[in-house]
Amino acid sequence: MLSAAENRTLTQVGPGTPMGSLLRRYWHPVAPLAELNHAQTMAIRLLGEDLVLYRGESGQHHLVSLYCAHRATNLSQASVEGDALRCPLHGWLYDEQGQCLEQPLEEYPFAPEVQLASYPVQAKAGLLWAYLGPDPAPLVPDWEPFSRQDGLVQIVSSFLDCNWLQCQESSLDPDSEWLQSTLDAGEAAPKGPPSDNEEMAFEEFEYGFIYRHAPKEHAPDEGWSVGGTSIWPNAVYEGNSRACHIEWYTPIDDRRTLAISWFFNRAAPNALIDGIEVTHWRSPPRDDDGEFVMSHRLNRKHVMWITQGMISDRTKEHLMESDRGIVMLRNKLFSQLALIADGGEPKGTLRSMAANRRLKLPSSDWGSSAGGAFIEIAGQPEQVARLFRKAVQS
Ligand code: FES
Repeated sequence: MLSAAENRTLTQVGPGTPMGSLLRRYWHPVAPLAELNHAQTMAIRLLGEDLVLYRGESGQHHLVSLYCAHRATNLSQASVEGDALRCPLHGWLYDEQGQCLEQPLEEYPFAPEVQLASYPVQAKAGLLWAYLGPDPAPLVPDWEPFSRQDGLVQIVSSFLDCNWLQCQESSLDPDSEWLQSTLDAGEAAPKGPPSDNEEMAFEEFEYGFIYRHAPKEHAPDEGWSVGGTSIWPNAVYEGNSRACHIEWYTPIDDRRTLAISWFFNRAAPNALIDGIEVTHWRSPPRDDDGEFVMSHRLNRKHVMWITQGMISDRTKEHLMESDRGIVMLRNKLFSQLALIADGGEPKGTLRSMAANRRLKLPSSDWGSSAGGAFIEIAGQPEQVARLFRKAVQS
């Protein structure tokens, strides 16, 4: 259980808040790369800041404040000129650093004095990543699956009406898996308690936390297998060289989170696709009738988090021994807040290009198909389903 003040500390992500300052020390995926190829500007909200993401004519991506400094016109409607943005209302022009260059209708222009906030953007693994923290920016992690060249990547975005921490805490709550496995087996709802025949262990590593499990009667140091990996500070990884999944929980603001899933399936021998195919789509938590989608594993998790309320009230919890992974995560967050307040470099900050190459994550059992169907998250478009079947069926 947390006090109300502690809960606010961990969940408030806006500019100037302790957790907002910690999360600003990392790159966050904000959109599939291909989404911006079609429309050159896109309004986004990240860590409580309204921004416009755009692709300049050079092909580079840029991120500046959403509202024009003149009369707050929304710059997602701006036109792109080179790598600059022209406001649609009175034509002020801003470069990619947010510097105003022109005020064409003014008799006494003062463009050099007008500056919008701007932030760096990088493209990696089919995603656009943004960094809102202090200079110098660290490196975008080069997770090993990003270098795979022999299968299908699906990038799936879900906008969730809940705070980021509800999502991330789930990455260290393996006991919740029994609900998932029961429903995967086709039951309408779990019946009876889960079996208590496994031992759980949690451990910290350089890039996050791992949970392991083993049969209760296992021999010392034997029988353990990795259940999942909580990537610091806001992602989860499951899988192996055949199939894997990373999901990031990008904080939009205190009450909303962009869950971006990155799925990889290695092409089966003799599969009908060559090289790497990258595709993207959206999976909203509700269907066209406004009902929660409960048909797929990740959707069920999303619904569990959303229905906790936008910001879970952790003052009413009763944490148990099985929740020690969640306690580890919270303690680490508090210690990292103290660390950066003292000027320290937080966990998992990558600065060496030589070291940031194909970073390995622990392997675990994980599968994303059953009989050629994609079972992880709902809404796969039919053309992607065909591609998926081509990839996983030989
Ligand atoms: S509101 Fe943008 S130029 Fe006037």
